[in-house]
Amino acid sequence: MIALGSDHGGFELKEAIKKHLEEKGIRYKDFGTYSPESIDYAVIAAKTAKGIVSGECEKGILCCGTGIGISIAANKVKGIRAACCSDYFSAKYTRLHNDANVLCMGGRVVGVGLALELVDVFLETEFEGGRHQRRIDQIAAIENGEL
Ligand code: RB5
Repeated sequence: MIALGSDHGGFELKEAIKKHLEEKGIRYKDFGTYSPESIDYAVIAAKTAKGIVSGECEKGILCCGTGIGISIAANKVKGIRAACCSDYFSAKYTRLHNDANVLCMGGRVVGVGLALELVDVFLETEFEGGRHQRRIDQIAAIENGEL
């Protein structure tokens, strides 16, 4: 199950991603927003991120105007590794090297065509592990106040 969320700036892109996931038979849970009305991205980031760290959803996709605000907010939730991407290489390598569990994109930055390519590579790429696991463990140590 993929967790989806956006503010108003990413609403249209989130709706396009929903359609894309439906066409691919990928299950998702939409944590809002549900209309183009203005809404604060931190609220949506928190709800969506909690849907992931609870184990209900495996990964998430968050959209706001730039992808930045919603990624900063999501990264405040322990266990979230959210990456704001607008190119294919970053969306792929944030899975390979960072084991990112949330892809963030800007609805005012990337076109729908590119965004859907980023979604596909993000969801299809596995974490490489090895030396990268040590670095993920260090990120967790920061969260726990150990580093
Ligand atoms: C909302 O206008 C906009 O600030 C928000 O979507 C996002 O871009 C923030 O980082």
